[in-house]
Amino acid sequence: MSNVLVLNGPNLGRLGSREPEIYGSADWKTLVDRVLAEASALGIQAEVRQTNDEAELIGWIYEAVDQHKDVVLNPAAFTHYSYALRDAAVQVPKAGLRLIEVHLSNPHSREEFRHTSVISGIATGVIAGFGVDSYLLALRQLAR
Ligand code: DQA
Repeated sequence: MSNVLVLNGPNLGRLGSREPEIYGSADWKTLVDRVLAEASALGIQAEVRQTNDEAELIGWIYEAVDQHKDVVLNPAAFTHYSYALRDAAVQVPKAGLRLIEVHLSNPHSREEFRHTSVISGIATGVIAGFGVDSYLLALRQLAR
């Protein structure tokens, strides 16, 4: 059974109440439930985590590499500036594992600072703009 860590950066725990016109009305628990249901339907062992702490997120990336798990990563605002996260995340593809960057919104249709991702260049693939479905699409790709 394929093993995946679904990792989420800052403010994503506020889903549902945070800018619902951009991120949708589904709350964090709904996201977790939908991701776990999809993973189970696909025969994937998935764990979903969220942190506001860059160091903790980097530690989880190391864990994925050391335990040979693929990663679905929504780096949230870290997407746009965290070279530390990029330096950690590049170890995922270098270990022969897959790293899929996901976003609920489409950052390219938003403010200019969101048009830069320091993660996309080292990701296996990027899925953005489909709300919670972005995560489900990533899991489907990992299951192929
Ligand atoms: C986000 C997009 C980022 O620009 C933003 O900082 C987020 C969420 C998304 O899922 O659409 O926090 O990653």
